[in-house]
Amino acid sequence: MADRLKGKTVLITGAAGGLGEAMAQRMAGEGARLALTDIDGGRAEALAARINAAHPGAAFAYAHDVASEDQWADVVARAVADLGGLSVLVNNAGVGGALAMVEDDTAENWQRQYEINLRSVMFGAKHAMPHLRAAAPASIINISSIAGLAAAPGMGAYNATKAGVWMYTKTLALEAAKAGWNVRCNSVHPVFIKTAILDPFVAMAHGDEAKAHERLSRGIPLKRIGEPDDVAWAVVYLASDESKFVTGSEFKIDGGMTAQ
Ligand SMILES: NC(=O)c1ccc[n+]([C@@H]2O[C@H](COP(=O)([O-])OP(=O)(O)OC[C@H]3O[C@@H](n4cnc5c(N)ncnc54)[C@H](O)[C@@H]3O)[C@@H](O)[C@H]2O)c1
Repeated sequence: MADRLKGKTVLITGAAGGLGEAMAQRMAGEGARLALTDIDGGRAEALAARINAAHPGAAFAYAHDVASEDQWADVVARAVADLGGLSVLVNNAGVGGALAMVEDDTAENWQRQYEINLRSVMFGAKHAMPHLRAAAPASIINISSIAGLAAAPGMGAYNATKAGVWMYTKTLALEAAKAGWNVRCNSVHPVFIKTAILDPFVAMAHGDEAKAHERLSRGIPLKRIGEPDDVAWAVVYLASDESKFVTGSEFKIDGGMTAQ
């Protein structure tokens, strides 16, 4: 299959590397045209160039801080102009923040994660919605985390913001359904996946990546951590019309962790 997303126009945030890059590659391979945004505009440009080498004209890149509503308004307008519309929004950008037990936690840690992980999702949906409605059937995909469904000590701000993304996804799904808009909205909840977001765990294992990954896999029934493509294929499905009856749901990609 190479055309599951033919005709779809997609904006992915935090797209320069990690899960965003895998999504961009898989979606381009399925025929989508892409607006790749990242706070690191240079890396987003480089990825767009790699994708365009294989799929000419498929990708555009923009520097974009998802914490800024002004930048959201600007980037959505530019993406709509370049792509000729917008039918899929993937709110992927996110940060892990500092591990901190409650007595050591800070306002700055919470504020940063609130702005980047959670409030950004509202800005994205707000500014994209008129265009998604116009391009329906449309889809919003919010990348939460298994940490939005199950807590861990020292991860208060991450747990809380990712749980917020999970519930806000349902609000959006119901608002769109109530209004009669064919804009579905679902959340994705990965467990540990091999990207730069795991660097602090590698540092804790003194740079031994294999050891860090083995430690992280201990609580996972499949006894391994995930690959970026494990998430990218779920996003392809949720972006496509194959998932046309799926809205307000959560999609866990966790090797069985929360089945225990
Ligand atoms: N990798 C995992 O283990 C894992 C597990 C669960 C959930 N997630 C979530 O998946 C998403 C992607 O994470 P990843 O693993 O690819 O991490 P990553 O660190 O590799 O990529 C995150 C990207 O977001 C960008 N970014 C950071 N702050 C930004 C901002 N303010 N505005 C715009 N872009 C910004 C970074 O430049 C980077 O390219 C995040 O929301 C993360 O919380 C990841």
